Amino acid sequence: MAADKDSNTNTASEAAKRPPGTVEVMYSAAEISARVSALADEIADTLGPDIMVVAVLKGSFVFTADLLRALHHHGVHPRIDFMTLSSYGTGTESSGKIAITRDITDDVRGAKILLIDDILESGRTLAFARELLQDRGAERVQLCVLLDKPEKRKIEVDADYVGFSIGDSFVVGYGLDYAHYYRELPYIGTISTD
Ligand code: IMP
Ligand code: MG
Repeated sequence: MAADKDSNTNTASEAAKRPPGTVEVMYSAAEISARVSALADEIADTLGPDIMVVAVLKGSFVFTADLLRALHHHGVHPRIDFMTLSSYGTGTESSGKIAITRDITDDVRGAKILLIDDILESGRTLAFARELLQDRGAERVQLCVLLDKPEKRKIEVDADYVGFSIGDSFVVGYGLDYAHYYRELPYIGTISTD
């Protein structure tokens, strides 16, 4: 199936209705919640309380919201800003080009940044965002992703904090979409279309 993974435009037919399919659960809401809490613990220990969060939209919005509240319970009270990046035109393979659709507005000079995304696949999106923040004068940029697909890496980039490492399957839910749908699912799963 042809996915329009993270673009900001919809054709009329794509916008019409959610593509049919059943979602098979890979990680339940409870499993995700436990993992997010452990990640917050690790981040608070490593980066300390004085950080700025930059979340890459759209896919990371659910993860970021939960992680921020978990960080709060670990004494971390960050500034937060959002950046919308798109790495895909159409089709399931990346075009390799990253575009800034919406930039952050806060000053990052001297900041210790936790850069959050939903999933690390080719690595192009996060490599691009990290370089951008470093070029603008951030003191340190660490990467945090809910999911990592190490087999799909096209350029060398490792996340400092990973929720779950998965194989080469297309996943939806907990912020991740297929054709702009399924983001609201409280769990992460794969779609089967039969
Ligand atoms: P990359 O690391 O530059 O390839 O970018 C990965 C981006 O593609 C993520 O931020 C997601 O928006 C999207 N993406 C990659 N794999 C999936 C998937 O399995 N489900 C939904 N979106 C995905
Ligand atoms: Mg994304």
